Amino acid sequence: MRNGGRNVVKTSFLTYNELNYMNTKIKMKAIIFCLCFACALPLGAQTNLLPNGEIWSDENGVHINAHGGGILFHDGRYYWFGEHKIEGTAGNLAHVGVHCYSSSDLRNWTDEGIALHVSDNPESDIARGRCILERPKVIYNAQTKKFVMWFHLEVGGNYQSARSGVAVADCVTGPYQFLRSMRINEGFWPMNVAGHLKELLRPDEVEYIAELRLTGGFHPDYPRDMVFRRDFIGGQMARDMTLFVDDDGKAYHIYSSEENGTLHIAELADDYLSHSGAFVRIFPGRFHEAPAIFKKDGKYFLFASGCTGWAPNAARLATAERIMGEWTELGNPCRGSKEECETTFRAQSTFVLKVHDKDEWIFMADRWCPNNAIDGRYVWIPIRFDAAGTPYLTLEENEPGE
Ligand code: GAL
Repeated sequence: MRNGGRNVVKTSFLTYNELNYMNTKIKMKAIIFCLCFACALPLGAQTNLLPNGEIWSDENGVHINAHGGGILFHDGRYYWFGEHKIEGTAGNLAHVGVHCYSSSDLRNWTDEGIALHVSDNPESDIARGRCILERPKVIYNAQTKKFVMWFHLEVGGNYQSARSGVAVADCVTGPYQFLRSMRINEGFWPMNVAGHLKELLRPDEVEYIAELRLTGGFHPDYPRDMVFRRDFIGGQMARDMTLFVDDDGKAYHIYSSEENGTLHIAELADDYLSHSGAFVRIFPGRFHEAPAIFKKDGKYFLFASGCTGWAPNAARLATAERIMGEWTELGNPCRGSKEECETTFRAQSTFVLKVHDKDEWIFMADRWCPNNAIDGRYVWIPIRFDAAGTPYLTLEENEPGE
């Protein structure tokens, strides 16, 4: 649907009398048809979202500044955390921190201020104007009653360090205290690799990999089974990322690793402040970025993009029965014009939001503006499901499922 208006749900039903006149076989077929048709459509009136790609004003009339963000629903309100950008290309570095907004309806947003401030200490990993701080996500730990924020951090501001930052707060809106930055799961092997790969790289392999000059973009000779071995000592790289809390309270950090060529799904420790050491590699050599995950009816779904920097590309969808895999790719989830499908509606995924108390999920994406970072726009699309339960994305209103 176009996000400006309400979506009217149309279902077809037969009257009791009509049903009574049918023989049982036809009756069964009619009932199954009605059920399938109803299932393929969204349930209830869809959440009324802001118009994609336009200026999204907060209650002060200021464009919302929360790029690459994620949303936490807590105590009856949605809290949106994202990168605060400034004007120009300078805005691609972190000058301010992580901005927070809150809303009860996903349409009217209150500015809650800066949840995590960058540091004025030039020695800090999150030094103002000297680092890149991207894709912040916040989760709530019910055991410790703390709010935990993770983000992609490039200390030095040049996409070399591929680190993760963690910060913590007692109150959802902050202030968040920066704890530390790190590479991930130093000294742990992935759970899903064969024993013969659980070996450090030989010196000739170290040299080989160095000569490839992997830059974080697609490389035709990407060595699928080497980078995680190189980074066993020192920890795994992590760039584009998201967080996910499962029904059992276990939390996961999902990130582009191994020079962006391979996704990792890594379990967090019980307090969510570090990693447990359990992790899997998925889709080695596919260069997935911008992961955004959700769970529906016991199945996991993962949206991602390809790896083309700020320029949008075709989205990818994958599914699994268990979060640690096996994961299977399902192709491009977009439906629309060629251009819309090839560019994910000119946007890149950042998060999937479960609407509270509704059988509804929203695909959140960014339309980046790297030349004037503050002017990045937002594209939020209610996720549709076809008759087989496979998610898809469309801007068409009332498009029937299959
Ligand atoms: C994108 C990534 C963004 C940002 C950008 C820098 O692929 O999703 O978060 O890192 O690259 O070029």
